[in-house]
Amino acid sequence: MKLIGPFKQILTLANLPLRGKLSDEQLEIIPDGGILVENGKILKTGVFSILHSEYPDIETEKIEGEQVALPAFTDSHTHICFGGNRANDFAMRNAGKSYLEIAESGGGIWSSVQHTRDASEEMLLNTLMQRIEFLVSLGITTIEIKSGYGLDKDNELKMLRIIKKAQQKTDATLVPTCLSAHLKPRDYNGSNEEYLNYIFTEILPEVKKESLAERVDIFIEKSAFQPEESRDFLLKTKGLGFEITVHADQFTPGSSRIAVEVGAKSADHLEATVEEDIAYLAQSDTVATALPGASLGLGEKFTPARKLLDAGAILAIASDWNPGSAPMGNLIVQASILATYEKLTTAEVLAGITFRSAYALGLEDRGRLLEGKKADFITFATHNFQNILYYQGSLKPEKVFIGGNEVKN
Ligand code: NIG
Ligand code: FE
Repeated sequence: MKLIGPFKQILTLANLPLRGKLSDEQLEIIPDGGILVENGKILKTGVFSILHSEYPDIETEKIEGEQVALPAFTDSHTHICFGGNRANDFAMRNAGKSYLEIAESGGGIWSSVQHTRDASEEMLLNTLMQRIEFLVSLGITTIEIKSGYGLDKDNELKMLRIIKKAQQKTDATLVPTCLSAHLKPRDYNGSNEEYLNYIFTEILPEVKKESLAERVDIFIEKSAFQPEESRDFLLKTKGLGFEITVHADQFTPGSSRIAVEVGAKSADHLEATVEEDIAYLAQSDTVATALPGASLGLGEKFTPARKLLDAGAILAIASDWNPGSAPMGNLIVQASILATYEKLTTAEVLAGITFRSAYALGLEDRGRLLEGKKADFITFATHNFQNILYYQGSLKPEKVFIGGNEVKN
């Protein structure tokens, strides 16, 4: 057991509801606080001096200077295992080229598939580890990572095995997701339905057998998979025991409904979600995940986060870090920018990148500083928690703790 502190402020996020809008008055702030940790979990939070007098003999890890502590962040949607880079796509888009023109000149998701297939396992693992370390330095200790740049059995399994290897090299929690249904690969001879069936019969049984992922994702969009074929695939996949998440309503509406109908854990993107689907999502347990990094990377509109929260949805915010639409990978920058455009309170943003995004991954054991929760928390060298979002990402975490132990870079 050990006592860590004192912190100028501790934001526990302990009593915030799982869904709907939040005001900053609802934030529980402990002044001059301490965190009591045992076996990697939170035992207690409270005023440091009181905790210290209750447990006079325990080890104390002293915090110098003014620091604010809060739960570590969860990035519930990334594609950070990839080869190559799509800077040319980015430049072409900004020069006014269309999606089709970019794809025809060798860009788009397919180019990342080729680079990922060509990359050595060592290269993929090394670059993945660099990205994980960057995310941990930003206070993100739980990271979802998708496959989806392999798009055939060997290469999808290669990606998922690399993510599994990465887990052995980091204390952060990695949550792998099989996104073989990202796009029908250009070298697949058959219809979309046949390719989905190939995933179901050839890839998913092996994913299960090797315990490579417990979640399956699909990109439902005009340019990828259509709503009806996706529904069938997802229901069958659920039958195999996988949790479901969906890339929904990114450019055209209609697919968040499918996510809700199949009981998906989350529907992510939602930039194009229409009013009635906002209401439908809000009445469900499917988390609505905004991906402001994709809006910023593409120059497209933001997810209607304000409307989703007002309607009572569970709103998470994730980075979507990928080589194409969201190259930045900085969740704090993105979430604080989303807040200014969508008018989100600090409590709503922090909930969206902590316990709400963890809930989207089925991880209810983290994201709040409460007894029994995983002792993943971070500090910022400031006297006031409001400065975290105010500096829009330029204030970086001072310390990152995973399971009660400080991560040293
Ligand atoms: O979430 N929308 C589809 N998939 C990714 C983009 C992946 C890529 O462009 O490589 C996304 O934005
Ligand atoms: Fe994505």
